[in-house]
Amino acid sequence: MILLLGASGYFGRAFGAELRWRGYDFIPLSRRALDYTRFEVLFDFVRRRRPEFIINAAGWNGSGNTDLAAAARAEYLAANVILPQTIARVALMTNTAWGHVSAGAIYAGAKVIADGRIRIERDLSRLELRELFAARPECFFGFTEWDAPNFTFRDAAHNFFSGTKALAEEVIRGQTRAYVWRPGIPFDDRPEAGNALAQPPAAGIASLTHVGDFVRACLNLWERQAAAGTYNIVNPGAVVLEELAGRCGRMAAPVVPAACWNRGAEFYHCAGKAVRSHSLLDAAKLRAAGGELRPVAEALAETLERWRGTPALAVA
Ligand SMILES: NC(=O)c1ccc[n+]([C@@H]2O[C@H](COP(=O)([O-])OP(=O)(O)OC[C@H]3O[C@@H](n4cnc5c(N)ncnc54)[C@H](OP(=O)(O)O)[C@@H]3O)[C@@H](O)[C@H]2O)c1
Repeated sequence: MILLLGASGYFGRAFGAELRWRGYDFIPLSRRALDYTRFEVLFDFVRRRRPEFIINAAGWNGSGNTDLAAAARAEYLAANVILPQTIARVALMTNTAWGHVSAGAIYAGAKVIADGRIRIERDLSRLELRELFAARPECFFGFTEWDAPNFTFRDAAHNFFSGTKALAEEVIRGQTRAYVWRPGIPFDDRPEAGNALAQPPAAGIASLTHVGDFVRACLNLWERQAAAGTYNIVNPGAVVLEELAGRCGRMAAPVVPAACWNRGAEFYHCAGKAVRSHSLLDAAKLRAAGGELRPVAEALAETLERWRGTPALAVA
């Protein structure tokens, strides 16, 4: 049996659909049914039910503003740091393998080769970088799993979301039976607040991750018994976000049912104030493990096509 935490969320539902499709016996847990955020509750549940694998798709994705109210900060810390720490302890004490959904947002920028030198460019929304990318995309490289995150509480520039996600990785690092799965900016054809195609346009260059491809790759790593540890799970090929916004702009906010915005309300209220990072992630480690995703251009083309073909979402 597989235990799926955060099963009601954007990533959680994608994991649930894939587990169902693969015929797994799994328990999708929601805090309403069982408060898995409490150590004694989760420990007791895992000890009794003995799952062979735990998936942590729970977390909090607000705007990440650094000027958040104390209550919002507490929510971020509870969902994105204390919960992964709780799961890590339970997994260690019950010798259970598990996987955690992290975020590429713990990095800002990319490695850029220019004039024979490699340098880190943190702000990929700068015009000269976008021009360089348009002319010579081969000069841009993503961060690997061995690069230290550079958009964390230790860095002057960060946001609260990225800070908490980076802290969680520190908590988990070194656990011998834990996978840390890092998506780029997530997208697919579901009208949800977490979906980049349903969000306001942003500027910059970024790695993207198709959520269906992501969950398949995560499960494949575990099924094939790939070495535990951190994996960047992005569709190869970076995307210029303004171009993406142009391609899907008419599919954005107005076509998303209001109910989908509840969780994202704070995000959209505050989005303009948040310090945002866009980054490129290198997926060579995933490729070496036999789990390479399809190119981002292909995944995007298929997704936009499906989105246009969905009657409930079609735009005039
Ligand atoms: N969406 C994105 O843009 C994005 C990008 C990169 C990484 N991620 C990461 O992917 C994971 C899942 O994100 P998502 O987009 O699927 O989020 P989501 O749709 O908001 O769902 C997250 C789920 O987490 C559970 N949860 C547990 N503790 C929580 C708390 N204190 N506050 C709010 N929810 C809590 C909730 O499920 P129950 O209440 O039913 O238990 C909720 O449905 C998170 O770790 C997130 O950081 C998301």
